[in-house]
This record gives sequence, structure tokens and C-alpha cells, in this order.
Amino acid sequence: MPNNKTVVSQEQIAHQYEYMQFIARMNEDKAQVRGQRPKAFTQTFGCQQNEADTQRIAGMLDEMGYEKTDRTEDADVIVINTCAVREHAESRALGNVGALSHLKKARPEVTICLCGCMVQQEHMPDKIKKSYPQVDLVFGTHALWRFPELLYRRLTGDKRVFDTSGDAAGYIAEGLPVLRDGGTKAWLSIMYGCNNFCTYCIVPYVRGRERSRAPEEIVHELEQLVADGYKDITLLGQNVNSYGKDLDEQIDFSDLLMRLNEVPGDFLLRFMTSHPKDASHKLFDTMAACDKVAKQLHLPFQSGSDTVLKRMNRGYTAEHYRELIAYARSKMPDITLSSDIIVGFPGETEEDFEKTRTLVAEVGFDMLYTFLYSKRSGTPAAEMPDDTTHAVKQARFERLLKTQDETVQARQNAYQGKRLRVLVDGTSKGTEYPLTARTEGGLLVCCAGDDLKIGEFADVVIEKTSLRCLFGRSV
Ligand code: SAH
Ligand code: SF4
Ligand code: F3S
Repeated sequence: MPNNKTVVSQEQIAHQYEYMQFIARMNEDKAQVRGQRPKAFTQTFGCQQNEADTQRIAGMLDEMGYEKTDRTEDADVIVINTCAVREHAESRALGNVGALSHLKKARPEVTICLCGCMVQQEHMPDKIKKSYPQVDLVFGTHALWRFPELLYRRLTGDKRVFDTSGDAAGYIAEGLPVLRDGGTKAWLSIMYGCNNFCTYCIVPYVRGRERSRAPEEIVHELEQLVADGYKDITLLGQNVNSYGKDLDEQIDFSDLLMRLNEVPGDFLLRFMTSHPKDASHKLFDTMAACDKVAKQLHLPFQSGSDTVLKRMNRGYTAEHYRELIAYARSKMPDITLSSDIIVGFPGETEEDFEKTRTLVAEVGFDMLYTFLYSKRSGTPAAEMPDDTTHAVKQARFERLLKTQDETVQARQNAYQGKRLRVLVDGTSKGTEYPLTARTEGGLLVCCAGDDLKIGEFADVVIEKTSLRCLFGRSV
């Protein structure tokens, strides 16, 4: 079991269900008058963890009797779930909130809610109070499970509700409703928070400390997902490799994978994110041995320079990273590899940058997510001297993109003519290849074939390739 301090009691969760019922009754009355149910709009910025949180919020809204809408104009409640990882994510969210001031003037009864990582930052509540009067309700990541209660307070008279309190230890709230998108893919959070404090990163400050869900809760949720027909399930955590360290029970991430692999059904398990300092040979052996675990690894290295890695507080060297990749490939020759990279970290020299570029060219990644360093106030890196101009960083960024496109294209080309097992998951815009699918390694395939069905596995032969997509026909 997780330690008691972090688990929200079932009594407290039951309370939230009571608030959901109060609001549901209010909404039934509204629906009687209007002839239609009140509507809720949600929007998500940031990572998969935030998408998973929005699905909890959507589950609570559904329980409260709101119907989903894609249009803010039609909404009675608007929830914007924010991200703080880079400045760009914040300015986009705040830009959208700014644009809602017209809507709020025209329909003052609409409830505008801001939640998630951005608002959990210390300076944010004041900023919103002063500059965004259209926002009615603000709740941080630690208060997510109290959303029904907070919304109830707002709907029954409180002028503006702010709740960004909460212990940095963080919470685990089991038993809240969740509304997923349907389809084939589902997120499954196995842990929350982060203890790593990479010097550039805001996440540990806004998501609290690492805490693992009890394995039986995870197994139970997976069983439900499989029963509901989900086939492509991604286990989520900021650093899944440290799963279990906070539990009384002796269990690590590899042990958890083995348990989940035993759940009956035809499905694929993916996971993200792995941290190179904690990724072990045991993990790769386990991946290789578990038939339901996709041979896909997202292992961010951030920089190829040891001096930069040290200043980032990453806890490994480029050599260690290379060794991990070599071991993973020795066990799973067809493994799909991806990584995150930061360009322009404070003090990054031309030589440091070239080490990053060399690593990219050398490893041969299938997907890369490269970011320009963004200064986050409150993090140690924000205080580090940084004398490289934006123009120089931008030029490095573009050079790296060129290298990464070349290596990714080379990897894609290698699939030409190959037969691959894919899970068909949707429709594409193209007419020649009207369906989309994912390979076991997570690569996008646009495909064609009369016998292909969304939600089912199939074999396709790759007929052509591009940088972002393979094109295949069923065999
Ligand atoms: N926990 C995951 C990812 C968290 S954030 C991990 O450790 O890999 C996703 C990515 O955003 C990071 O991997 C990093 O590449 C990038 N990132 C985080 N903070 C950033 C910042 N201040 N500026 C630019 N990129 C950043
Ligand atoms: Fe951020 Fe590092 Fe934690 Fe990832 S491991 S969330 S980059 S502090
Ligand atoms: Fe952003 Fe929070 Fe995820 S800061 S990247 S939404 S954990």
C-alpha cells in the first residue's frame, strides 16, 4: 500500500460524489427548463499525464450531468487544464483565457475554470486574480480530486474560488470517475509526481513528490480497460523506472510489468517516461520476455554532453546512455527508440551541442522531441549564467532538426517492403490510404485494405515511407 499520508480517504471521495449529485440535481432542473442538458467544454495543454487528468475531470463533469461540447460558445462550464513546462505552453493557455473575456461579458453565467500545472506555481494565483477577472475557479494539481466541491461552491454563491493549496507530498485519489475518448488507446497512470529535480524542470514543483499507486489498483484498472475494449494502453509516470520505491511492498517497475502482462486479453502495453539513471538491464530483460509489452522505449537523454548533463542534474553520462541503448537493442533488435532533447541549456557551448548532435546521428532514433531551453522561474537553471544569444540557440536547434530528420527518414526507409503487425485505430485524411494504425513500436502507418477494421490488429506490407508516416496495405 502507498503510505496513508498521500492517499485520499474513501470517505473524502464519497463526499465528492455527494457534491457531484448536488450539481447533477441542479443540472436536471436546468435541463427541464431549457429542454437540453447543460454543457461542458474541456481543453488540455501539456503531457499525457495532463490528458489523463482531463479525462478524470471529464468523468466528474459527466457524473454531474454535463454533456460534452467542442464549442466554448455553447458551454456552461469551461475547464482549461494548463501546463508550465515551457513558456510557450503558458502563453498559449493564458492567450486562450484572455480570449474568453468576450464570452464572459456576453454570458456572465458561464463558469470558467483554470487548473493544472501552470496554476500550481506560487506566483500564479495573484496574477490570475489581478489580470484575468473572467476566471471563476482556479485549482491546482493537488486539488483536482476536490473539483466537485469547488465547483459547487462557485455555483452556489462564492464569487471566485481559488484552491492551489496542498502538500508537496501530493495525493493519490482512487475511485474518481473517468471519461475516456473511446477508441483503442487509453492512458493508465501508475504513479504521480517527480523527485528528480532536473535543474531546468518545473514539474517536481507543480506535481509534488513521487507516489506510486498500489499494484492491485493498477491491475484492476487495466482489467477494466481491457474489458472495455481498449487495446493500446500506455502506463504513465514522469519516471516509471522509480515505480514502487515509496511502497511498503517490495515491487519495482519490472515486477509490475510482469504482473500486468499476465492480465488476459489481446492488448499492447506501452509506458512513459523512462529515466536513463534508473533504466536497468532488468527492465530490458522484462520487456523482451513479456509478449504484451510493446518493444518501444522513450528514453530522454536531454544532452549528449556530460558537463551539461551534470549541470542538468540528470545523474548519468552519455556513455551510460549509449550502453543502455546497446543493451536494449541486443535484447530487442527491432525496438523503436525515441528521446527528448533540450537545445540551448544555460552555458551550452558549441562543443557541447555537437556532442548532442553526434549522439542523435549515432543512435538512430525513430522519433525525437527537441525543445529550445525555456527559463522557468524557481528552478536552479534560471539562476545559471547564460550568455548564448537566442539567435545562436535557434541556429543550433535548426541544425539539430536537420540531423534528426535525416536519421529518422533513414530509419523509416528501412521499413520499405517489410511486413508489420499493426493496430488499426482511426481514419486518415488521405484517400489512397484511408485508415491509420500504429505498429507495436508506436510508429504511425496510414493503411489501406478492405479487410482492415478499426480496433483490430492486422498485418500490412509497407509500400512507401515519409518522415512521419509509413504507408501500408493489408496482406
Ligand atoms: N519526466 C519526463 C518528461 C517531463 S517534461 C522526463 O524526465 O523525461 C518533457 C520534456 O520537456 C523533458 O524531457 C524535457 O526535454 C522538456 N523540458 C522540460 N523542462 C524544459 C524547459 N525548461 N525548457 C525546455 N524543455 C524542457
Ligand atoms: Fe522534469 Fe526531470 Fe522529473 Fe522529468 S525527471 S519530470 S525532466 S524533473
Ligand atoms: Fe506540463 Fe505538467 Fe505535464 S508542466 S508537461 S502538464 S506534468
